[in-house]
Amino acid sequence: MSTYRIAPSILSADFARLGEEVRDVIDAGADWIHFDVMDNHYVPNLTFGPMVCQALRKHSRVPIDVHLMVEPVDALALAFCQAGADLVSFHPEASRHVDRTLQLIQAEGKQAGLVFNPATPLDVLDCVIERVDLVLIMSVNPGFGGQSFIDSALRKIERARRLIDATGRDIRLEVDGGIKVDNIRRVADAGADTFVAGSAIFGQPDYRTVISAMRAQLARD
Ligand code: DX5
Ligand code: ZN
Repeated sequence: MSTYRIAPSILSADFARLGEEVRDVIDAGADWIHFDVMDNHYVPNLTFGPMVCQALRKHSRVPIDVHLMVEPVDALALAFCQAGADLVSFHPEASRHVDRTLQLIQAEGKQAGLVFNPATPLDVLDCVIERVDLVLIMSVNPGFGGQSFIDSALRKIERARRLIDATGRDIRLEVDGGIKVDNIRRVADAGADTFVAGSAIFGQPDYRTVISAMRAQLARD
């Protein structure tokens, strides 16, 4: 299994000081910056667009992991590739032509991911897993930070891990929603290697303490 990555979600950061928040959380040990894009259409909330990503790019020396909660997908996926995203993930039900959207992201030299809501089966992976770079399992319904982890995600993570391992390819398995110090190890044990955490990190005064505590859980025998 490849090394673990912790991806703080800036959805829970102080939007009035986003550049500083990104620098602080990277200094505290973040591996990726998770960037939640909501359009008030696919999800009932509205966040930030490609211009904010472009502005943050120079504050981030780590990969920017864009999670698109938008419909339609293609134009924004392309705009985020051009705004400096390193990985761009989208929900398959929001794209009319999933394979085409994956190709569009990869043609820009970026990694492409598919995101699965709690009630969305992994079926589409049967057709496109050879093309994806990342599988993102939602452990909350998308739209808001600070929700509780939905336990049925664990079984889906286990299934996704088996599908990924069967390809022999280096595909990241990321989990998003309700991840805290006290459950990250269970999520890793189910097969995840990349962990999004918003409120657990930005809700605390010392980001390094939380990220180190998460790493300690991941390192435990
Ligand atoms: C929810 C977002 C998440 C969110 C997670 O739609 O995709 O990335 O920021 O927040 P927490 O970690 O607070 O559940
Ligand atoms: Zn997210």
